[in-house]
Amino acid sequence: MGWNSWNRFACDIDERLIRKTADELVSSGMKDAGYTYVVIDDCWHGARDADGFITADSQRFPSGIKALADYVHSKGLKFGLYSDAGRKTCGGRPGSQGHEYQDAITYARWGVDYLKYDWCSTGTRNAEEAYALMADALRATGRDIVFSICEWGNNRPWLWASRIGNLWRTTGDITDKWAGKHGYSWGLLNIVDMNEPLWPHAGPGHWNDPDMLEVGNPGLTPVENRAHFSLWAMMAAPLMAGNDVASMDAETRAILLNKDVIAVDQDRLGVQGRRVAREGDREVWVKPLAGGGRAVLLFNRGETPARISVTNEALAYPAGVRLKVRDLWAHRDLGAWKGRFEAEVEPHGVVMLRLDARASVVSDPRR
Ligand code: GLA
Repeated sequence: MGWNSWNRFACDIDERLIRKTADELVSSGMKDAGYTYVVIDDCWHGARDADGFITADSQRFPSGIKALADYVHSKGLKFGLYSDAGRKTCGGRPGSQGHEYQDAITYARWGVDYLKYDWCSTGTRNAEEAYALMADALRATGRDIVFSICEWGNNRPWLWASRIGNLWRTTGDITDKWAGKHGYSWGLLNIVDMNEPLWPHAGPGHWNDPDMLEVGNPGLTPVENRAHFSLWAMMAAPLMAGNDVASMDAETRAILLNKDVIAVDQDRLGVQGRRVAREGDREVWVKPLAGGGRAVLLFNRGETPARISVTNEALAYPAGVRLKVRDLWAHRDLGAWKGRFEAEVEPHGVVMLRLDARASVVSDPRR
C-alpha cells in the first residue's frame, strides 16, 4: 500500500508535491491505515552524468532525491522510484538498460525502498531476462527493495515473475473511466476483466497488479470509486492511491480509509478473490479469508438497480454453518448469517460483506 504520483500528476511533479503528499499521508490518517510507500513515477530524472550515473531533474528536484527520500523516511514512510528496462522511460527520460547495476546502487545509496520498472523502448529485449537482471542488481545492493514489474501483462508475467518481483502489472494502463478503451488506457471494467481470471497466480509476496487506484480522481463518481476500491480489495491488489491527497474530499477519504475493506485486501491468507457467479450485469465475488471467513461482493455493472443474492452454496459453505455478517460500507454488523443474503445494488455499485466464524461463548471466570 502506498501512493504513486502518476495517475493524478503524470509528469507534472516536483519535490514540493512529494513532500506535501508525505505530510498529508500522515495528517489524513492514510499512513496509519497502511499506505506506506511514496513512489515517484516517471519524469523525476535528469540526464546521466559523465560516468553514466543517473541524476534528478535539477529544476523540479533541486534538493536531490536523497534529501527527498530522507524527508519521506522522517515521516515514517517508505520511498520509491520509477525506471524502465529500455533505453528510455515511457516519458522519454533515461531508462536503465545497460546501467542496471549502476542504477541499483544509486537507488540504494539514496534510500529507495521500492522500484517500479516499466517496459517502454525495450526493442527486442526478453522480458523475463530484463526483469531478472534488474532484480539481481537490486539484490546485490543488499537493500530491501520491493520490485514492481510493469510490462502490462504482455509477456504473461504471472507465469514467471513470482521468482523475480513482488508484483506485476497484468494490464495496460488504467484511467478514471468506468469502461472502454481511452487512448492507450482502459476503464475499470476492462481492467477488472483482465485481472480476474489470473487469481490462481497471486499469493503472499507475489501479487497480480491491475494498476494503481483512480479513487478520488475526477472521472469517477463516488459510487464507482467504492466499487473500484472494493474490487481491488477482493482481488488482493496492491493499493497504491493515485489521487491528490492534499485536496482530497471527505467522500474520497472515507473510501480510501475504510479499514474493513483494507483488511480484506490485506488479509494474511493472501488469496485473490474471484467472480463466482455472473448473470448479465449482476455479479457475485468471493474472497476466502484467514480463519475460514469470506469477503463477499455483490456487484452491479449495469445502469439500473439490480437485486443480487448469494447463498451458502456459492460461498462453498455447508448448510447450517455458524457465521456472523458485517456490511463493510454501511459499517454495520448484521448479526447471524442465515445461509442466504439478498440486496438491491445501485447502478455501478456494490454491497460488500464480511462473514466470519461466530466467537465461541467462553464462560466468564469471575462468575
Ligand atoms: C506506463 C506505465 C504507467 C506509468 C507511465 C509513465 O504507461 O504503465 O503506469 O508509469 O508509463 O510514463
